[in-house]
Amino acid sequence: MVQLTLPKNSRIVSGKVWPKPENQKNLREFKIYRYDPDGETNPRTDTYFVDLDDCGPMVLDAIIWIKNTIDPTLTFRRSCREGICGSCAMNIDGANTLACTKAMSDIKGVIKIYPLPHMPVVKDLVPDLTRFYAQHASIEPWLKTDTPKPEKEWRQSHGDREKLDGLYECILCACCSTSCPSYWWNGDRYLGPAALLQAYRWLIDSRDERTGERLDELEDPFKLYRCHTIMNCAQTCPKGLNPAKAIAEIKKMMVARQV
Ligand code: SF4
Ligand code: SF4
Ligand code: FES
Repeated sequence: MVQLTLPKNSRIVSGKVWPKPENQKNLREFKIYRYDPDGETNPRTDTYFVDLDDCGPMVLDAIIWIKNTIDPTLTFRRSCREGICGSCAMNIDGANTLACTKAMSDIKGVIKIYPLPHMPVVKDLVPDLTRFYAQHASIEPWLKTDTPKPEKEWRQSHGDREKLDGLYECILCACCSTSCPSYWWNGDRYLGPAALLQAYRWLIDSRDERTGERLDELEDPFKLYRCHTIMNCAQTCPKGLNPAKAIAEIKKMMVARQV
């Protein structure tokens, strides 16, 4: 897992240390980033102690426990709690991942949690993903065809269907894009690994009939070519996908159509 550390001059201050639960010995310490747009001490890290005898094994279980038993103001996203919805993505122990599939037992020492890096923060662990979703929408992630609609369904051979493996599983959690240095610095113009993986998913779909148009849209010094194959994206993806490879394949398609 790629480790993302805070800069030495980070302005994050130490916040409140909540008392340990009484008469409990099996405790785990958490330091969690807090930001409240209406608050006064921003940003800060608050310290909590979780009773492991009263809590499930995952990091998400712990932050739900904190919210339910200690501090109801702690804010984060979550929905499915089984690695499907992508909403609980955050930076845990220095790496972007899903809180619901990250076991506390995999982490040594104090468990440190921050929101996904280099995104505006709405509150606490909730990043503003407006631009990320707009970039996904910009690659037009749906089947585009010119031939008349078949009576029943668009058919695809088993071999062509297999080409989508490793792509369709993306849950749009944003762990990859927010771990990508090129996206940190040029996220307003570079589409980032998540949107580009999705772009490739449609480029190689045998049923899609707008491949040329899709490539034209990506032929831009920033949208595609800011990927410098640093590979953070592939190392951090909690679904084991490889956006860097998909980006390399798009670049190959660009070259192939020029010869
Ligand atoms: S490629 Fe992986 S890390 Fe990136 S958005 Fe999809 S599931 Fe998340
Ligand atoms: S391989 Fe490309 S997309 Fe992935 S982290 Fe590196 S620069 Fe970003
Ligand atoms: S809660 Fe849905 S992926 Fe974690």
